[in-house]
Amino acid sequence: MTALSTTPLSFPVPAAPSVWPASAVAAPGGDVSVGGVSLTELAGRYGTPAYVVDEAEVRARAAAWRRALPDAEVVYAAKAFLCRAMVDWMEEEGLGLDVCSAGELELAASRGFPADRIVLHGNAKSPHDLRTALRLGVGRIVIDSECEIARLAAHVPGPEAQQVMVRVLPGIEAGGHRKIRTGAEGQKFGLSIAEGDAEDAVARILGQPRLELTGLHTHLGSQIASPEPYTRAVRRVIAFMARIRDRYGITLPELDLGGGFAAAQLPGDPAPAPAAYGRRINDALVRACAEFDLPRPRLTVEPGRSIVAAAGVALYRVLSVKRTGGRVFAAVDGGMSDNPRPALYGARYTVRMVGRSADAPMRATSVVGRHCEAGDVLAESVELPEDLRPGDVLAVPASGAYQVSMASGYNLTGRPPVVAVAGGRSRLLMRREAFEDHLGRDVGL
Ligand code: LLP
Repeated sequence: MTALSTTPLSFPVPAAPSVWPASAVAAPGGDVSVGGVSLTELAGRYGTPAYVVDEAEVRARAAAWRRALPDAEVVYAAKAFLCRAMVDWMEEEGLGLDVCSAGELELAASRGFPADRIVLHGNAKSPHDLRTALRLGVGRIVIDSECEIARLAAHVPGPEAQQVMVRVLPGIEAGGHRKIRTGAEGQKFGLSIAEGDAEDAVARILGQPRLELTGLHTHLGSQIASPEPYTRAVRRVIAFMARIRDRYGITLPELDLGGGFAAAQLPGDPAPAPAAYGRRINDALVRACAEFDLPRPRLTVEPGRSIVAAAGVALYRVLSVKRTGGRVFAAVDGGMSDNPRPALYGARYTVRMVGRSADAPMRATSVVGRHCEAGDVLAESVELPEDLRPGDVLAVPASGAYQVSMASGYNLTGRPPVVAVAGGRSRLLMRREAFEDHLGRDVGL
């Protein structure tokens, strides 16, 4: 067995090192193993489509974030991928959890995750979200609109105040796609510093004895492949903290910079290590605090994708191969119901055949899903062997973030299972959604 990261294989490797988990190795005969388990074997045992998660990779990435910012709180953004095992791994690695619904919160609580290490987000928290958060005692609730301030305060049972932060909009454009940029003016998240909304919210919260303002939060967006936007955000938010001190006489003790740290989707995509982001953010914080004469607030970061994307591999089986309009289409047994990201954001992936060696030359092939839409394309024009045929297994690395969590019930194909691999063993984390699950909800007869 040879490490995928170092060894040239007998045919061009469509997905180079950075997009595979560190444990991925290519075996003779065209197989690849992850976490010591053969992907071909996993496809056979659990069926396809299926998602494989390398536990050691997840833990190593979580630990790398903690090492990168030893004085900060590292809070995993649960929306990237959540299940009960994941809650346990984050707890054991000493991370907190960022949740954005009562559902994510209940799941964390079902494993006894310490509520004081949970941060609740959301631009539109429902009464049920807020009640659940208060009942379970979440550490901090991030205020995202003026109207939720009084609503939240009215529900706080007291006598202790609920800790809150204000999500501020620093007016910074960053992120890999228009739909996942949240730091600029004129979109639904946050309260604008420039337009005065953030300050109004601060004033209102300070007037609510049942709320304790602990700090400011900002989340610039996702797939931010450079530390630079974070350093700008640090300066703007610290400048705003100084203004709050000058006007209201309070020094806020916390700064939450959100997530958005990039993960490589294609080989060679820039994805700085946590340490690189950490160093630059720390430097910016020290400089800004000196400039505005503020004590250093306690920092929080909320990486999601950066912890799980590279740990996941999606497995599909080819159902048909078709040549038409001068193009080759390989249709697989999954698609936009388990990975809507290409259709939503134009996300790109690499694909590798596993399970047999192919001596045939490679050719550009579009890997498409089985759903009833022409836009159901998983990977445009990837290099796959010319003799690709029904029954072959395809592996798609960099599939750990926002695929399972955004999977839908489209066409009643059933959401795929999630299998953890570690130390040469596999373990089912989430079973495949069965037809009976659909029937169980369809109660209208
Ligand atoms: N914190 C907050 C408040 C967030 O809204 C998010 C992501 C994160 C942290 C984590 O961001 P990450 O480190 O994972 O980039 N569905 C899209 C991504 C949407 C992200 C939403 N918020 C995708 O598939 O690319």
